[in-house]
Amino acid sequence: MNLGNVLIFGGTGMLSMASGWIAENSNLTIAFGRNENRLQQLQRKFGVQNLKVQKLDYTDTKVLENTIKTITKKYSKIDLVVAWIHENTAPKAIPTIRKLISEINFNQKWSLLLIKGSSSDISRIIESEKNISDNCKLKVVQLGFIYTGTTSRWLTHEEITDGVIQAITYEKS
Ligand SMILES: NC(=O)c1ccc[n+]([C@@H]2O[C@H](COP(=O)([O-])OP(=O)(O)OC[C@H]3O[C@@H](n4cnc5c(N)ncnc54)[C@H](OP(=O)(O)O)[C@@H]3O)[C@@H](O)[C@H]2O)c1
Repeated sequence: MNLGNVLIFGGTGMLSMASGWIAENSNLTIAFGRNENRLQQLQRKFGVQNLKVQKLDYTDTKVLENTIKTITKKYSKIDLVVAWIHENTAPKAIPTIRKLISEINFNQKWSLLLIKGSSSDISRIIESEKNISDNCKLKVVQLGFIYTGTTSRWLTHEEITDGVIQAITYEKS
């Protein structure tokens, strides 16, 4: 599998293993985050040449736009964006990424994989993504939890990673 050129937002925490898998299966993967240590750790852990890391605070819309423009100028097409972005802190981030990459990719297809928390309202998300451009294929992964009968727990990072990989590799037949 070759995922092409991939951008990952929010991939240095619970999605670290997923970021590593993506990098191993891509031409180029760029993971963004604010924390230099976490970024370096991700790069050290997976150590694959095509995994690049870049400091970015996605709450700054202007910086986000400029970063995407610079990257797409350098690497031309973006094939996949994985975004674990907290909408309450950065409501403009996902619309900005979606609009800009759809425009830059023009009529070339690309995929946007949104990771959402268990309390997210998925029907609202799908409704708000209705006007998505034709060249963008949207997938949404909603995090869940495991109920053991008496207690419940959040998914482990391994379980989250498996779900993300499944979503990326799944194709409707
Ligand atoms: N089941 C559920 O619904 C659910 C929902 C939420 C969380 N959780 C659990 O809670 C744990 C912690 O959650 P978490 O959200 O802190 O996840 P996390 O994945 O550990 O960290 C958040 C990720 O987003 C990045 N990020 C956050 N704000 C950013 C910004 N303004 N600009 C750029 N990057 C930014 C972080 O990078 P930087 O650190 O570099 O900023 C990091 O990569 C997770 O491990 C998960 O198990 C479960």
